[in-house]
Amino acid sequence: MRSRRWGATHGHSQVGHRAWGWRTEFVLAASLAAILDGAASPGGRGGTALIVGIAGVLVWKVGSLRQLLASVLRVASLRRWLARAMRVSGVFGITGRLPSIISVELVPLGVRFWVEVARGTHAGQLHHQAEHLAAALKVREVRIGRLRSDASVAEVLVVRRDPFQSAGSSPWPWAEMAATSLWRSVPLGFDEEGRAVQVSLPEHNLLLGGEPGAGKSAVLSLFVAAAALDPDVRLTLLDAKQVELAPWAGSADAFVGASIPEAIEVLRELCAEMDRRYGALLTAKRRKVAPGDELPLYVVAIDELAWFLRAEKRDERTELQERLRDLVSRGRAAGMIVIAATQKPSNDVVPTFIRDLFSFRMALRCTTPESSDTILGQGWASQGYSAQAIDPSSRGVGFLLAEGGVPVKCRAHYLDDEAVADLARRAELLRAGRRGDGS
Ligand SMILES: Nc1ncnc2c1ncn2[C@@H]1O[C@H](COP(=O)(O)OP(=O)(O)OP(=O)(O)O)[C@@H](O)[C@H]1O
Ligand SMILES: [Mg+2]
Repeated sequence: MRSRRWGATHGHSQVGHRAWGWRTEFVLAASLAAILDGAASPGGRGGTALIVGIAGVLVWKVGSLRQLLASVLRVASLRRWLARAMRVSGVFGITGRLPSIISVELVPLGVRFWVEVARGTHAGQLHHQAEHLAAALKVREVRIGRLRSDASVAEVLVVRRDPFQSAGSSPWPWAEMAATSLWRSVPLGFDEEGRAVQVSLPEHNLLLGGEPGAGKSAVLSLFVAAAALDPDVRLTLLDAKQVELAPWAGSADAFVGASIPEAIEVLRELCAEMDRRYGALLTAKRRKVAPGDELPLYVVAIDELAWFLRAEKRDERTELQERLRDLVSRGRAAGMIVIAATQKPSNDVVPTFIRDLFSFRMALRCTTPESSDTILGQGWASQGYSAQAIDPSSRGVGFLLAEGGVPVKCRAHYLDDEAVADLARRAELLRAGRRGDGS
């Protein structure tokens, strides 16, 4: 269901706005009245009565016409619904005008509106109204976006349903593959409209955050599985709890548990390798590694990042932070990918000079909108993209901020312990076979 109308409510007073919202019904009622009036007049009785009769029978009998009429009335009522909410939320331009509703579309999640803000304002002004609008509309969530090509047009997505509440996690599509390539996008899960969500890791670093038990380690294990099943990929694992990444240790060059000195040593080696790679690229007159290169991708998976960054000894802490910052900031073109998970990446735990370098973020369920913003970046929660709104029972659900530039709510695939053990064993065999070939 879609209706388009540019600048529909410009220049109307408050009362005018309200009356304008009823224009569809008014036009329909006026048309009906005119026809009936014609039918009642002495000259038009026969012909007009026939038209009224035929029109009535058509609307009644032809399903598509009935649906069209219902859809027109529904769009009009949805427009009034949002206009009322915008009025009570105080979403006015400097001239005192409300944004005008350009289009209305029913989507699986609820209703998507596109609105054009009044002259003198911009779409960003609606961003901070997400919660106000949700309250005025009496819905669970409202998410505000903007049209990339036009700063005066904002998207208002009214979320009325949570498709993840009833559905469980789906199996990982790559679980049955004999081998993978990390140059391909890794399947992560499904979004709220059932579309596959994938993440392309080369040239990116990924930060996963969320409250305890939100599903960070489970998501991390998907990416580690994808890396382990690509025999070309060199894997380094740091896991302060040990149990999450231990199953993949057989496929890794290095596995570090709760040991700061070992973590520093491993990061030193990775930085040295990064320097060697830049040297090799320079000699080859190339700017970055590419598929099929002599230089394989490196994946560094870190679970419980905060634990490592909070090393007690100051010199160790400084070196660890500096090595990690170096790896994340310069690793992109050298094919070094860092994927880190942590409960609370706030400034006192993960310094901003490290956190801000992660180009991809995923916020699983958080306890506050502020902690969601800490992961995704400042301001997303006020636009309605808050991981606090995720149902606490929905494990593995989070907002992924990646290529699209706007967070996408998705539910991650899940590998249970048995699936992890099976994949890890297959990855080891694959790698052993590759070594046996001498390749
Ligand atoms: N996508 C998922 N689908 C179904 N269940 C999941 C999913 N992800 C996680 N779980 C369940 O939630 C539990 C906690 O997940 P996980 O260990 O990944 O959380 P976490 O965020 O890493 O927690 P912590 O901060 O304590 O390490 C898992 O043991 C599993 O039972
Ligand atoms: Mg964990």
